Amino acid sequence: MQKALLLGAAFALGLPAAAWGRAVDVAEARARTVEAKMTPDERVMMTHGILALPLFGDTMLPPEAVLGAGYVAGVPRLGIPNLTETDASLGVAYNNGARGPEGATPLPSGLAQAATWNPALVRKGGATIGAEAKAKGFNVLLAGGVNLMRDPRNGRTFEYFSEDPLLAGVLAGEAIAGIQSNRMISTVKHFALNSQETARGFLDARLSDAAARESDLLAFQIAIERGNPGSVMCAYNQVEGAYACGSDYLLNQVLKRDWHYKGFVMSDWGAVHGLEFALNGLDQQSGAQLDRQLFFGAPLKQAAASDRRYAARLADMNRRILYAIYANGLDSAPPEKKPLDVEAGLAVADEVAREGIVLLRNQNDTLPLAAAVKRVAVIGGYADTGVVSGGGSSQVQMTGGPAASVPVGGEGPLAAILQETYHRSVPLTAITKRLPAADVTFTRGNYLTDAVQAAKDADVAIIFATGWRSEGFDVPDLSLPYGQDDLIAAVAKANPRTIVVLETGGPVLMPWLNDTAAVLQAWYPGGRGGEAIASVLFGETNPSGRLPVTFPASLGQLPRPVLPGLGTIQPDFLGRPKAGERLSVNYDIEGSDIGYRWNARQSQKALYPFGFGLSYTSFEVSGLVLSGLHARFTVANSGRRAGAEVAQLYLVGRPDGPRQRLVGFQKVELAPGERREISLDLDPRLLADWARAGWTIRAGLYRFALGSDAEHLGPSVAISLPAKHWKD
Ligand code: BGC
Repeated sequence: MQKALLLGAAFALGLPAAAWGRAVDVAEARARTVEAKMTPDERVMMTHGILALPLFGDTMLPPEAVLGAGYVAGVPRLGIPNLTETDASLGVAYNNGARGPEGATPLPSGLAQAATWNPALVRKGGATIGAEAKAKGFNVLLAGGVNLMRDPRNGRTFEYFSEDPLLAGVLAGEAIAGIQSNRMISTVKHFALNSQETARGFLDARLSDAAARESDLLAFQIAIERGNPGSVMCAYNQVEGAYACGSDYLLNQVLKRDWHYKGFVMSDWGAVHGLEFALNGLDQQSGAQLDRQLFFGAPLKQAAASDRRYAARLADMNRRILYAIYANGLDSAPPEKKPLDVEAGLAVADEVAREGIVLLRNQNDTLPLAAAVKRVAVIGGYADTGVVSGGGSSQVQMTGGPAASVPVGGEGPLAAILQETYHRSVPLTAITKRLPAADVTFTRGNYLTDAVQAAKDADVAIIFATGWRSEGFDVPDLSLPYGQDDLIAAVAKANPRTIVVLETGGPVLMPWLNDTAAVLQAWYPGGRGGEAIASVLFGETNPSGRLPVTFPASLGQLPRPVLPGLGTIQPDFLGRPKAGERLSVNYDIEGSDIGYRWNARQSQKALYPFGFGLSYTSFEVSGLVLSGLHARFTVANSGRRAGAEVAQLYLVGRPDGPRQRLVGFQKVELAPGERREISLDLDPRLLADWARAGWTIRAGLYRFALGSDAEHLGPSVAISLPAKHWKD
């Protein structure tokens, strides 16, 4: 792993591996020298931070703190900079306008980014939001959300990338590398198994070590290798009976011992429950006002004065934080506040949105829409106002705040952040602009009668549906909220040329599907979402998004048909237990077979499988040849339009039987008739089992197939591999 780490980081910074290796050595040496000069008081300055928002009357915010998620005081005497931290993976969080009306670029959701299957574009998104964070005075971006989708009802599904460790790990690594190219720290989070929001503050995630290393932990491992984040944020929940932020297994054994991770572990906000978390591998207590006590201040200093274990840890904690600071140039390249290049940021958001939109259905080539269409009924989804975005700490707003917001948080201090909000990018305007001679109407969709009438009076009905999700809460099922399923069903019955545009934070069921002409999955499409949707509808963009997650055909297909805790645990943003509440979730049911792998194991078909997505052209992916762990094949555009295909290579069998797993992918842009040879090197971990404290490949035949998605696979090709066992 050390070698992989070096190569990944060197790649991220565009450095030769040897040069990055030297940079690591220099940063480590500096960290050791500076740490040795620190006084006991200084040593516990760096090990804790506060929530830097005026939410708590008694918090003194120092003038150099930038209002945002966190602030950690530096040591000016030693030239150690303060850490100024902001959320999150989709852009610089707005924090309800705490810093003023200036907003930031809202990137499309994590799932939308992942649906591009385009590592370079995801990296560009990271570089963009990192630059904006720095321009606002921050040097740490709390980004890199890489939790796998174990439950499609997870309220934070929209922030994350995928159910697959390779896709999620590669893309999160690229996002992190993009952010850190601005000479700042990014986190990777939430380590680990924070798979649902219900009871997140106390839920005990049960999963065997082997299954975890082959799935959720592998996603983190790949992201860390590629992106080399300065910090890992540990999660709220428990894993195998220990809080993630106090888990010797996760932090000391897996992350620091096996993966040789050199940066520091910061806690999630309110996730620290004891001083001993320091011994178990936690390096920094974040947002300390949210915990019962400031453990990593005076109590840690005292413990270090009398207990050698704490003294050694305290020195190591500081060296790790300093290493991340020096390796990423936080001391030499401090943030300089300046206005954002709003247009440039939105252009990147637009590019991501257009590449991330997935065309799920297109009967009789309904799409792209012809400019000659005469009467169009646009219905629902606030399509006259904007595009929906996800809630919670990752909420980004454009300057001036949301175009519209629906309060969903009742009373209390969190009510302000619990708002279903819409970005200022208006699908109706973008559609109308493209149809100057047509009669385009808009109907809110509040009443079925109006919507049905509008659909009947039109040649084409375009119905928008939104499914808002937020950190802090899960969705109880996969229906569309506010009765929108009924609305779509009624409209689709009234007009056979009904196009559904879904702005959802994750998979949904589609009971109305068979009556529709076309379906676009637009996710939360970000600050230029309205434009991006219209550009796909009218064919200016040939859709190339592919699903990064499985859309199940029913809740019954899931490993846990009922969301754990539903109806028994009281919903609460922070997920803290009320008297007597406990929740343990058995992820060993599916183990490492998440999503499409679970479906393959259960021989069940998804509504739309992982990897699925249509195009306005057609492709042929063929000629698979393997030599060892090197694959070659050809991708050709066999249609009449330029477009991009996502070639997907799957493992389909091992010596011990059928076994499905994505082992490689490549997005390829092709002109009509063009063909390209692709070659991919496969990561041996994707073929292996975690056994005997390392990766194990059994001798025998391994079969692979190219697939247009996880359920539509071409002929398989076998190779024979020798037995192999190795450590990370
Ligand atoms: C979230 C983190 C976030 C932190 C700081 C927590 O509630 O889980 O993702 O970075 O708050 O705002």
